[in-house]
Formats: sequence, C-alpha cells, structure tokens
Amino acid sequence: MTIYQLLVLFPLWICLPHFCSPEIMFRRTPTPQKRILGARVPRSDGKILHRQKRGWMWNQFFLLEEYTGSDYQYVGKLHSDQDKGDGSLKYILSGDGAGTLFIIDEKTGDIHATRRIDREEKAFYTLRAQAINRRTLRPVEPESEFVIKIHDINDNEPTFPEEIYTASVPEMSVVGTSVVQVTATDADDPSYGNSARVIYSILQGQPYFSVEPETGIIRTALPNMNRENREQYQVVIQAKDMGGQMGGLSGTTTVNITLTDVNDNPPRFAQNTIHLRVLESSPIGTAIGSVKATDADTGKNAEVEYRIIDGDGTDMFDIITEKDTQEGIITVKKPLDYESRRLYTLKVEAENTHVDPRFYYLGPFKDTTIVKISVEDVDEPPIFSRSSYLFEVHEDIEVGTIIGTVMARDPDSTSSPIRFSLDRHTDLDRIFNIHSGNGSLYTSKPLDRELSQWHNLTVIAAEINNPKEMTRVAVFVRILDVNDNAPQFAVFYDTFVCENARPGQLIQTISAVDKDDPLGGQKFFFSLAAVNPNFTVQDNEDNTARILTRKNGFNRHEISTYLLPVVISDNDYPIQSSTGTLSIRVCTCDSQGNMQSCSAEALLLPAGLSTGALIAILLCIIILLVIVVLFAALKRQRKKEPLILSKEDIRDNIVSYNDEGGGEEDTQAFDIGTLRNPAAIEEKKLRRDIIPETLFIPRRTPTAPDNTDVRDFINERLKEHDLDPTAPPYDSLATYAYEGNDSIAESLSSLESGTTDGDQNYDYLREWGPRFNKLAEMYGGGESDKDS
Ligand SMILES: *[C@@H]1O[C@H](CO)[C@@H](O)[C@H](O)[C@H]1NC(C)=O
Ligand SMILES: *[C@@H]1O[C@H](CO)[C@@H](O)[C@H](O)[C@H]1NC(C)=O
Ligand SMILES: *[C@@H]1O[C@H](CO)[C@@H](O)[C@H](O)[C@H]1NC(C)=O
Ligand SMILES: *[C@@H]1O[C@H](CO)[C@@H](O)[C@H](O)[C@H]1NC(C)=O
Repeated sequence: MTIYQLLVLFPLWICLPHFCSPEIMFRRTPTPQKRILGARVPRSDGKILHRQKRGWMWNQFFLLEEYTGSDYQYVGKLHSDQDKGDGSLKYILSGDGAGTLFIIDEKTGDIHATRRIDREEKAFYTLRAQAINRRTLRPVEPESEFVIKIHDINDNEPTFPEEIYTASVPEMSVVGTSVVQVTATDADDPSYGNSARVIYSILQGQPYFSVEPETGIIRTALPNMNRENREQYQVVIQAKDMGGQMGGLSGTTTVNITLTDVNDNPPRFAQNTIHLRVLESSPIGTAIGSVKATDADTGKNAEVEYRIIDGDGTDMFDIITEKDTQEGIITVKKPLDYESRRLYTLKVEAENTHVDPRFYYLGPFKDTTIVKISVEDVDEPPIFSRSSYLFEVHEDIEVGTIIGTVMARDPDSTSSPIRFSLDRHTDLDRIFNIHSGNGSLYTSKPLDRELSQWHNLTVIAAEINNPKEMTRVAVFVRILDVNDNAPQFAVFYDTFVCENARPGQLIQTISAVDKDDPLGGQKFFFSLAAVNPNFTVQDNEDNTARILTRKNGFNRHEISTYLLPVVISDNDYPIQSSTGTLSIRVCTCDSQGNMQSCSAEALLLPAGLSTGALIAILLCIIILLVIVVLFAALKRQRKKEPLILSKEDIRDNIVSYNDEGGGEEDTQAFDIGTLRNPAAIEEKKLRRDIIPETLFIPRRTPTAPDNTDVRDFINERLKEHDLDPTAPPYDSLATYAYEGNDSIAESLSSLESGTTDGDQNYDYLREWGPRFNKLAEMYGGGESDKDS
C-alpha cells in the first residue's frame, strides 16, 4: 500500500462504520507534493518507478455482520472518474461471493450484500472490479482487487471448552488457595471493541469459593473448610463479554470441587470402657476380641496404631493392629488361670500413624480406652504335683508294698475328687497296682531286677465328677539291686591234668559271674568245699582263682576224672555263694605238658587204638561223604534237562486244584508223568504225603468203549473217576487221549484202527503208555523218573 493510498484510507478508519455514508467515490485528486513523492521513488536497484494513471482509488469496503434488515444491505459503490454518468460504462464484479453474496448494479456500481454475513464465518471477502465500455467492451479501468471486510458485532457469547470441570483442593486450605483456572473463549473479534473481552464471575459456590474476574482462577474463599462437614461443592462460573458490562453475552460452566482429606481428626474410641471375656484355657495367641477407634478422616489419615500403654494385664495380653479393618486385636500372651486371677484391666491407646504437624494445634491425634478382660472358668483336667515321678524300690520288697504315691488335684474352683488308675499298656505283666483314691502305687507281684530293671508306667488321674477330664503322668520305677543271686563259674571249664603233672602245677584259672549288680562292684571268693589231697584253689583276689595240683602221679587208668567242688561266694549282703564242680580229666601229655590222650576217649574207643588209626577212620568217612554228595549233585543236574527241552509239556503242567500242595516234596500233585503216561495215573494217584486208610487196588476199565458211541465212553470214564474212592482229594486232569471219529487229522488213536481192522484193542491207554514213556525217555525222564 502506497503512502498515497494510506492517506486516502485514513479518514475511512475514523468515519466508518458509524458516521459515513457507504457511498464512496475516490477521485484522483491527490495533493501535489504527495504525488511528487509518490512519482519518483528511487529504488535500490536504480530504476525509477513511474506511477501509472488509474481510476480506482479504493481497495477496502466495510460491512457490518449480522444485518437484520429485510432489504439488501448496501456495501458501497464502485465509481470510475471515467464515468460520465451517461451509462456507457459497465461495472463488473468477480471474486469471493460475486454474483451471489455480493451483487453489483452494473450501471451505478452499487454493491449490495444479498444475505446476512457472519464475521465469525468469514471475516474478509476479496473481490475484483472492472469497468468496461458498453459499446467497445474495452475496459476503461484496469481490473482491480479490493476487499470487503466484515465488521464485528458482539454476536458470540464466551464459551467454556468443558461443560463440567472437576477439581480438588485440600480441606483446611488457607483462604485464596488456587483451585483451578477456567477459561472461556469468545469467537468475536478480540481486536475490535469489547466483544471478546471476557470477565468471570461466580454464580454459585459462594461463600466457599471466589473467581478472579480477569483470569478465571477459582480460589477458596472460606477458612477451615472441612471435608468431614462437606466434601463436594458445585461452583458455577459465568464468563461475560463486553468486559462484563450490561448487554454483554455470557456463558457458564460448572466446576465440581472436591475437598481432599488432611489429617485433621484424631482417632476416637466410641466407648470409654470395653468389656471382653476369655476362657482361661485359651492358648497363647488366641484373639479374645477387638477394639476400634474411628477416625473421621479417610485413607492413610485414618490409619491407627494400637498399643497397650498401661494396666495390670500388660504382660498377659498383647494387641495387634489389623491393617485391613483398622482394629486392635487383643490376644493372649501368657497362660491364664481363672483360679488365680479373674479380671485384668488394660489401657489401650489408638494413635494416628500419619500426623500432619500443621494440625497439632487441634490437639493430640490419639485416644485411649480401658479394656476390662474377665477370665472365665473352664473345667480343667487334674494337675499332677510333678511332671514325672521316679520311684526306686528294692527288688526284694514284699508283694503289696507301697512303692510311692503320685499326687494330683483339680485346678478348678469346684475341686473335684480325683481317681487314679494305671495305664495297663504300660504294665502288661500287672506287676503294679494303684490305690485309686490316694495315688499310692503298690506291687502285686514280686519284682526281679535281673528280669527288668525299669518299669516305666503311666498313671492316669481323672476327675470323678467328669471322667473326661484326665491327665497322664509318667512314673519311672527303678528296681534296686538286692544280692539275691549267687556267683557262678563264668564259663564251663574243660579241665585236664597231665599224668606227669608235678605238685603245685597250674591246671586251670577260673573266674565267676553274678547277675546281681552291687554298688561297689563284684567281689568273689573262691575256696574248696572240702579239703582235697589232690587239688587246691588259690584265690587271686581279682575275682579269679587258680586250680593247682597238690600231688603227682595221676593215672588215667586208675581214675579217669576227678570232680572238684569249688565254693564261690560274693561279699554283698546277704552273702550268696554257690558250689561249682570242676571235672578234671586225666590225660597223657608230652614233656611240654600238651595233651595227648585223655580218659574221655578211653570211654569211646578201644584202649589200643592209636591216634593214627583214628585219623585214618575219619578220612574214610570224609571220602565216603564226598562221594555221596557228588552223586546227589550229578543226579540233580540230569533231572533238570527235560523240563527245559520239552516246551510242549510245560504248558500241560498247569493243574489247578483247591488243595494246599505239599510243597516241593509233593511231586504227586504236579506229576506230569500222569499226563505223559496215562497208564501211570492209577499207580500214582495216591499222594505220598497222605497215607490212605485203605489201599484200593486200582481198577481197570472193565467195559470197553463202544466204537460208535464215543460220548458213552467218555461219560463212563468220567463216572468212573468221580466214583473212584482212591482218587486224589483235589481236582485232577484225566487224559482220555481220544480224538473221536471225525478228526481230519487222521487220528493215530487205536480206537480208529480198532474199528477198521476189527481187532478189539480198547486198551489204548496201555498201548499209548510205552509211546509216552519213550518220549519221556528221550527227554531224560521215563516211567521211573517220577520226579520230573
Ligand atoms: C458433579 O457434581 C454433581 C453433584 O455433586 C454430580 O451429580 C455430578 O455427577 C458431578 N459431575 C462430575 C463430572 O463429577
Ligand atoms: C492309700 O490308701 C491305702 C488303702 O486305702 C492305704 O493303705 C495307704 O496307706 C494310703 N496311702 C497313703 C499315702 O496314705
Ligand atoms: C524307662 O525309663 C528310663 C529312664 O528314662 C530309661 O532309661 C529306660 O530305658 C526306660 N525303659 C523302658 C523299658 O522304656
Ligand atoms: C585223691 O586221689 C586219690 C587217688 O590218687 C583218690 O583215691 C582220692 O579219692 C582222691 N581224693 C579226693 C577227695 O578226690
């Protein structure tokens, strides 16, 4: 835009749209100096721009939007200074909306808008104007572009992008705390007038909230707004344009404001005193009840921790904070006893775990309550005075002696009398008994430490009023030793004396044992029962003694064996002693004193037989034994073969019968021979392990089978077997070896041949017997081989 144009347009800005007529004609009457200025403008590239002659002097029209008149709205007038007013010129309009929205009077150049125009829809219309000579159709003015600018009126209200806003602010916030900012937009032209200048005000929500008129920031307006009183607020904000003046358009929005929680409330117990009850039998850890302090806050601001801070039951009970329910669970910490204490008092404190120091001024965030716990009586089983008893008793006490007394009492206040009994499983020999009334244990049989040193009993105490309440206690009875056993030789002594023994020679060292177990250990004394001229005993004083000869000249032909009674005694009270007799054989010895032959042999063998001969006899016996064993082994090996080779026979070995067999020895039960050799059946029917009372001579079939009626033959045989008193007591398999007439296999049966050649040889079993035997022999068996 040239300066010239600017100068021309300037008055327009001032006069439009209120005062000026929309009919404008611009004449080419610029001030001279401006023209000179405009005509020669030296350009940087050195060229001189020459202004061309022109007839148009406009390029902008203004039009008010939202025209409501019934006729066309006048926009402006095109005019060329070439127009003599004789109608020779014709104005033509083209561009945005030309001919439709904007029409032009081609003679006068008047432009009208055909309908209402909305600036917010389109703020500028760019059009082109042309003036031509009607006759020549030549343009008298060059085509020129101009703009119709739609002038704004306040036809749009401010709008909020959201219909409902949600916002939150902590409760107890100080006045003026910003909550949220709401912003409305106005579609009107913000660059012109106040149509788009929005001012906010609050329609609903006072006195709690306020809004900043210019910014739309919502702030709290009341101090100490308490969520616990009211949590939700609905604030309605109005935005009004025209700077909020009367006549401005307005829009509203709703803001849902939630107060968020802060910890401004302490926990509170509903009651000052809480009563709980608990059974005295409740085991440690039992929950007996709960306390709960309520907190008006929510979430972690309502979290509470429980503590027992005082009371006489602090070591008997515990409190656990249950996170889910925010309850304090009181549990048993130590075993309770109704009989010793029936009431406990606890002081329980509930305190917020998350405390906000800002609200300390409101007071402590905790509360206390008193919990009274009454212990309730339970019928308890009796209690023994000790957890176990140990009684020591000498084994020699008389039957019926009291060995000890167990004591028990009913801990209940209604002390029931107690009945004692012995668990008989712990005293199977019924050696002990108990007085049921007073718990005295006594013996009912003699005791013997040497049989059993301990008797570990169980005594049961039951309440007479309620026998289900019972307690058991272990009673250990140790039997103390009494010297009731005499010492004896430790082993059997096979003693001999050499014929050539000298007097004073040691022939045996003896020792002794005693079943008793004296406290100071065993001490044995050895002596001879009577003075003996032949032997003597020397006590070594270490529980052994030596037997020495007293003379020489022993002769086994004279006296083959001496009997020497030795008295062994212990030193316990009462002294127990026994006499053991040593038998001393007389033997011939070599010069070193090694035994060569003794009198014991002389009893068995002829006197003249030497040792060498004896060895020879022994050798013979051994050789014989070896031969016998070898024979037996060979025989067994031979027997095994047929079972392995004859696979067909293995299948036949399965014989079932409802009788217990005689084991391996019972060869009759599994006698395959009966299958192989039918002739053998009758012979072997009798079980070897059962001696039959009457021995029947096995009967041969007297009736020969009819060669045409095989069924009769089989029935006959079956009947015969069923009635046979010599048959075994179990089910057995009988072979008929008969294939019948129609066998395609060309039976080898003698029955077949019998019918053909007329030879009535019905004893087919016997005929087949040898065949079977032959087969069996091939496999190492045979008729004689009954075991296979
Ligand atoms: C705003 O609050 C009103 C009343 O409290 C409720 O009915 C409405 O559902 C809330 N709207 C939203 C979006 O939270
Ligand atoms: C228990 O009772 C029995 C018989 O009634 C009696 O002999 C015994 O001495 C009593 N025991 C005690 C310890 O009193
Ligand atoms: C009995 O108890 C004693 C002591 O506890 C123990 O030494 C012994 O082995 C027990 N005897 C039996 C048979 O259980
Ligand atoms: C001692 O030996 C002699 C024979 O040498 C015999 O007659 C006598 O009976 C023996 N005395 C005793 C007590 O055995």
